[in-house]
Amino acid sequence: MSQPALALPPAAAKKVTVATLASYKARGRRAVFVTAYDYPTAVFAERAGVDMLLVGDSAAMTVLGCPNTLGVSMDEMLVFARAVCRGAKTAFVVGDLPFLSYQVSDEEAVRNAGAFLTAGCDAVKCEGGARISRRVRAMTDAGITVMGHLGLTPQSQAQLGGYRVQGKTLAAVQRLTDDALALQEAGAFAVLLEALPAEASAYLRERVDLLVYGIGAGPHVDGQLVISHDILGNFVGDIHPRFVRRYADLDLQVEHAFRAYADDVRAGRFPASEHLYPIDSAHEAEIRAARVSAPAPGWNGGSAVQHASA
Ligand code: KIV
Repeated sequence: MSQPALALPPAAAKKVTVATLASYKARGRRAVFVTAYDYPTAVFAERAGVDMLLVGDSAAMTVLGCPNTLGVSMDEMLVFARAVCRGAKTAFVVGDLPFLSYQVSDEEAVRNAGAFLTAGCDAVKCEGGARISRRVRAMTDAGITVMGHLGLTPQSQAQLGGYRVQGKTLAAVQRLTDDALALQEAGAFAVLLEALPAEASAYLRERVDLLVYGIGAGPHVDGQLVISHDILGNFVGDIHPRFVRRYADLDLQVEHAFRAYADDVRAGRFPASEHLYPIDSAHEAEIRAARVSAPAPGWNGGSAVQHASA
């Protein structure tokens, strides 16, 4: 179980804010951004020096086992968000507005985005450009910090013809840039680009004042997002995006640990003496004598008796 000591950068000593992220951009420091859906992941990511956490609606697939991101509700997202915010003391936390939590009306968008903020998030993310800029304006007018999401937008993947790379022509990247400008005009502070060729992301980033983050969008952005299950190797499914580098094999490690535990239980190797609560030996002898002299009615004697007296 022991791991080699890692030379980790210290977690940010101070809370990461929009101003911090802007200063990173000004200094050419790339922000490190991962998804998190629970308390331990938030704690470990922050200890490792991660700057930003996305409580993504990818939770539908990574945690809830759904076939796409549409299967998670606002209420479920808030459970994940609260857990992450309990663990994240300094990281900038973004809550991902799930499908139909912001598309229907300005009022619902503001209420749901506000619920992420009261859960402890610093900002919310929503998918789409010009066509949702009115909603973005409603949220930013309510004092909510909003990140847009352009390119491959998984909530509308059916409309896009599946999980496909976007922005592959100049005309397409110009349309995405117009969308980003619409988000900027509506008061968004940042945009996330998903599944874009590197040159397309660079084109867009050079034409906006927004902070520009990327997932599968190449190096010319202000920070890199990954889905933590993809880099940790515990995504259960057949999606293997080209842009992912795997840093651990948690699937194998978890399966191995469960198998070893199961073997130990079945072979009687667990629990061992060091896992037992000690009591005063006189009391123990008294209880054992009572078990023998007055056996429990119907008790047929079993492995537990052998074990206890072993
Ligand atoms: O929910 C999520 O993790 C996301 C990423 C796929 C960008 O929105």
